[in-house]
Amino acid sequence: MVTSSAPGKVYLFGEHAVVYGEPAVPCAIELRAQVTAQRRDEGLRVHAGDLSLSGFTVKYDGDGTERPDIDVPDSLVDAAMGYINESVEQARDAAGIPEAGFDVTIDSEIPLGAGIGSSAAVAVAAIDAATRELGVELPPEELADRAYRVEHTVQDGQASRADTFCSAMGGAVRVEGNDCRGIEAPDLPFVIGYDGGAGDTGALVAGVRELRDEYGFAADTVGAIGDVVRTGERVLADGDIETLGNLMNFNHGLLSALGVSSRSLDAMVWAARDAGAYGAKLTGAGGGGCIVALDESHETETALEYTPGCQDTFRAELDTEGVRVEEQ
Ligand code: MEV
Repeated sequence: MVTSSAPGKVYLFGEHAVVYGEPAVPCAIELRAQVTAQRRDEGLRVHAGDLSLSGFTVKYDGDGTERPDIDVPDSLVDAAMGYINESVEQARDAAGIPEAGFDVTIDSEIPLGAGIGSSAAVAVAAIDAATRELGVELPPEELADRAYRVEHTVQDGQASRADTFCSAMGGAVRVEGNDCRGIEAPDLPFVIGYDGGAGDTGALVAGVRELRDEYGFAADTVGAIGDVVRTGERVLADGDIETLGNLMNFNHGLLSALGVSSRSLDAMVWAARDAGAYGAKLTGAGGGGCIVALDESHETETALEYTPGCQDTFRAELDTEGVRVEEQ
């Protein structure tokens, strides 16, 4: 039996545009998904204690047709099951044991579909635990690559390497197409606001693609996000948090123009700004879920606590450690 964990992330800049080859800067945060893999004779059995899905256990006969009987949108459950199924396939492939059966247990602190990297963290930790259980140890770069292939499959071929590379490596990273690397970042005072909801990443990415295909100005908006990221990288290297916040505000406006914000995400972003945060933006695919703000003081957390539509708010530390083994 092997247990591995991997961190979630927030996007300082660049989600969505990164799918089209623009750079992005996600940062790993100290919230982890933990996955335990134990070999069994055949098939796949999944136990998920906390995926913000109020707890479920599902047994697979191998073709992924059984569904847990729980009250959350089908698309989210299908996606969650898809990530696990595909991760196990990657582990079998890496170990060259296509028929390997597993009991997989997931225990995650990261809400599902909320923009802070639950699927990438689950995929990275699941591949690591399942390959180790089969006696194979993969370097984090290969785990990132295989977890990317999982996301690519589950999200209908529309995924970047950003979430999975960040989760496998930890820290702040820069991703532009296939070029993925770690970067230096100062301690950033991240505050997260969570509306309790979730977005459907596949559908949101597809929506941006349609806009981009239809309107030149939407394609320009995607390109403008890339420009914000390139400027943001220089500002990050200088450690100028005030300008970083202004650029996050700009990035949120561009994402909003692309239709991926929501009333509750906008309400939380404005509450953070009004409370004196350096800046605030949605993080991840959008549609619902989380915003990230920069504020050293308690003002933003306090303001978010009183913001209608905000279910939870907390401070998140940069996690410099990527995937790791918890128990072997
Ligand atoms: C989702 O966390 C981030 C997106 O940019 C999709 C991706 O990069 O695969 C929206």
